[in-house]
Amino acid sequence: MLGRMMRPFRASLNPERDVELSQYLAGWRELVRFLIPLGSIFAFATSEASAKVTALEALVHGPEAAHYTSLATMVAWERPGIAPRLSAGCPGSMTMLLLHRALRWSQLCLHRVATGMLGGPDAGAQCSDAYGTALAPHHPWFVRQAAHLAFLAFPSRGRLLELACPGSKEAEARNALVRAAGTLEDVYNRTQGLLADGGLLELA
Ligand SMILES: *[C@@H]1O[C@H](CO)[C@@H](O)[C@H](O)[C@H]1NC(C)=O
Repeated sequence: MLGRMMRPFRASLNPERDVELSQYLAGWRELVRFLIPLGSIFAFATSEASAKVTALEALVHGPEAAHYTSLATMVAWERPGIAPRLSAGCPGSMTMLLLHRALRWSQLCLHRVATGMLGGPDAGAQCSDAYGTALAPHHPWFVRQAAHLAFLAFPSRGRLLELACPGSKEAEARNALVRAAGTLEDVYNRTQGLLADGGLLELA
C-alpha cells in the first residue's frame, strides 16, 4: 500500500529539481486510496482531493498538455501576464496549491502517527494539530468546525498502523510510515520552492 503510493511520488522528483505532474497526480491517487478509510475527516482535511486531482489530470492530458508536463512548466505558462488568454486565471497552479497544502497535512499527520509515544497525544489529537498548522488557516469557519467534529472519530494509532502495513509488527509499520512521510516531505519541499519562486503561494 505505502509502496504503491511512494513509487510515483518519488518518480515525480526529476533530476532537474522539478516535479513531474503526471507522477505527482498518480501518487495522489494512491494517497487518496490510503486516506479514505480514515473516515469523514479526510473529506474536510483535503477538501475533495479527488476532484482536484481529476481537474489537474484534465489539464495534463488537455489541449495545452505541453505546458503541463511539470510544475515549473505549468507555473511559467500560467504566470499572470504571461498567458493572458487564460481567462480563468491560473487554474492549474490554484488547484496545485490546494493539493500542496493537503499533502502537507498528510505528511505531518503520518509522521506524527508513526513517531507518537505511549502516553503522548493520541493519533486524532496529533492529526488535528497538523490540521491546525497546515490547513485551518486557509479554511472558512464552518469547515474548521466540521473538521473539529470529524477528528473526534479519528482512528487509533494501532488502527492506522494496521491500515498502513496490514499484518506487520508495530515497529515495522512505524518505520515504513516514517519513510513514507519522509518521501512526502521531499515532494512537499520541492513543490513549496517552485510555487514560492512563481509567487503562487499567495493565490488563495
Ligand atoms: C524540508 O524543508 C525544511 C525547511 O526548509 C527542512 O527543515 C527539512 O529538513 C526539509 N526536509 C527534507 C526531507 O528535505
